[in-house]
Amino acid sequence: MTKITVDIHHESAQYPILIQDSIYDELNDFVNNGYRDRDIVIITDDNINALFGDKIQKVLANRNPHIRSIQPGERSKSRETKAQIEDEMLGKEFGRDTLIIAFGGGVVGDLSGFVASTYKRGIPVIQIPTSLLAMVDSAIGGKTAINTIYGKNLIGSFWQPEAVFVGMEFLVRLPEPEFLNGLAEAVKMAIVFDEEFFEYFENNSQKILARDNEALTHIVERCITLKKEVVEEDEKESGLRQCLNFGHTIGHAVESIAGYNEKHGFCVAMGMAAETQLAALTGALSWTDADRILKLLEKMHLPNTINEKYEKQLMYKKMKSDKKAVNQTPMFVTLQGLGKVKKNKNQFSFSFDKSTVLKAISLVK
Ligand code: GLY
Repeated sequence: MTKITVDIHHESAQYPILIQDSIYDELNDFVNNGYRDRDIVIITDDNINALFGDKIQKVLANRNPHIRSIQPGERSKSRETKAQIEDEMLGKEFGRDTLIIAFGGGVVGDLSGFVASTYKRGIPVIQIPTSLLAMVDSAIGGKTAINTIYGKNLIGSFWQPEAVFVGMEFLVRLPEPEFLNGLAEAVKMAIVFDEEFFEYFENNSQKILARDNEALTHIVERCITLKKEVVEEDEKESGLRQCLNFGHTIGHAVESIAGYNEKHGFCVAMGMAAETQLAALTGALSWTDADRILKLLEKMHLPNTINEKYEKQLMYKKMKSDKKAVNQTPMFVTLQGLGKVKKNKNQFSFSFDKSTVLKAISLVK
């Protein structure tokens, strides 16, 4: 078992992230030691409930948890689903002493975290990420959100969990597209923060794609360690945390045009390919490093081109209304090397001429 502690100094908040093959014994101890007198609501989705719902209910049987299962998929990250869960909890008279357990992938984690942050002005939540994407990114760092017709994650809060339990056994059952979806965010962490980690991906692609437990455990641990360091320094994304948006400015534009029917990680991979070209075009990144990044995406079975159907001008329009845009100008995390990004004081994202951005996109078309 690996234990990583996140320490948000300014809020005096500290919580453990436990990484192990199976999480159930530790979860049972944690909940029964620290949260003995609390009612428990487990929020999950129908896929995870079918696979692991019986097991978690059995493990926590002495606490008689209430299970609320939502429909799988991004569409559940909505105001409507949030209100339905809240009304159900209010109707069943769950008090401020309730503990929510978010048991699922990114959708369940983001939605449950947001419910927890506003229910009766805030109740504790434990995150149990079951997808690779949630393990390496969304369950770590306290971002919660829902989507609206205006875009993804536009309404939400920062609400740090009581603990995060990462069980590697969940990855065995993950469908391949979901696995690759998470791999894209893991590769992003290597590109942005850690050249050695980047080389690990280059040298171990077969093992990783075969879901070798040791390789995946290494990846999950490294991503969580890197993300913890970022979140500890900049919880609310006023500086360093912006780096996590590498590939996301163009990626979110693709995702939006695709009507959120394309996987987030795939869109981020496309965005990373284009934003890599942007960094090379502006002279910040060498073409050799750019080439290595594009090759690694391909090696990891991730897209490194953007389909013609995503029209450049429309992509640019979407980027202007992205929540990271400043005065309607798209902002980009700009690579200066493998594991190196451009920085100016506490600023980690930069704007470029529209023509340069469009040219970078053309290079990956
Ligand atoms: N997923 C990006 C972040 O947590 O900041």
